[in-house]
Amino acid sequence: MTGEDFVAELLVMVNDFCRTLETQPPAYSYIPLTSDEERIRVMKSRLYNEVRAAELFGTWLKTTPELEVKAIMAESAHEEMEHAELLSRRITDLGFEPFDYQPLPAQTAMFNAIEGLTDTCQRMAGFSLAGEAVATYLTQKSLQASTVPDWIKQPYRKITQDEEGHGSIPQKILQRYAITGERQEAARRAVAMRLVLFREYLNSLDRWAMGKDRW
Ligand SMILES: [Fe+2]
Ligand SMILES: [Fe+2]
Repeated sequence: MTGEDFVAELLVMVNDFCRTLETQPPAYSYIPLTSDEERIRVMKSRLYNEVRAAELFGTWLKTTPELEVKAIMAESAHEEMEHAELLSRRITDLGFEPFDYQPLPAQTAMFNAIEGLTDTCQRMAGFSLAGEAVATYLTQKSLQASTVPDWIKQPYRKITQDEEGHGSIPQKILQRYAITGERQEAARRAVAMRLVLFREYLNSLDRWAMGKDRW
């Protein structure tokens, strides 16, 4: 299978996943939330994701031999820290403490599993392509929703602009490097794993943010 066909296959997996979130948007999108307390919980959880994303990209630098991918990761690490800055400032401005958050067990599992991916194509597919596509999809939904207050939308307008600006980069990298059956199969499994774990995280966040469970 060519790199192009392979990327198209991965995008079908990701789009199918997004479609399952269409009718009942998760707490992650802020759409079903009704109080600022709930919204702050979700923002803290998503702040954690930004910091953890920066850490992941940094961790991978040394073990990524492809120089162009290494450069992208270094830049991404910086950008994720900027997103973290935007969210933490917003939380502080509202009088809350941004860093007293304990990651949900499914969230820890998701990041630890991703951190364990060793191949550049797995990392790009499982983290950048699959994860950021779902995150951007849900963020755009929240920007369009009338139930989401403007103080939430403000930082996400900038965040989503960044993500859209380089949304096609993981696709280009995969088209170039995921050209053997072995690399494709590893990357395909990484996407599948990511989506399973993302689902678990979204479900836990629904329960916890809306006060139905401890996590
Ligand atoms: Fe980000
Ligand atoms: Fe990102």
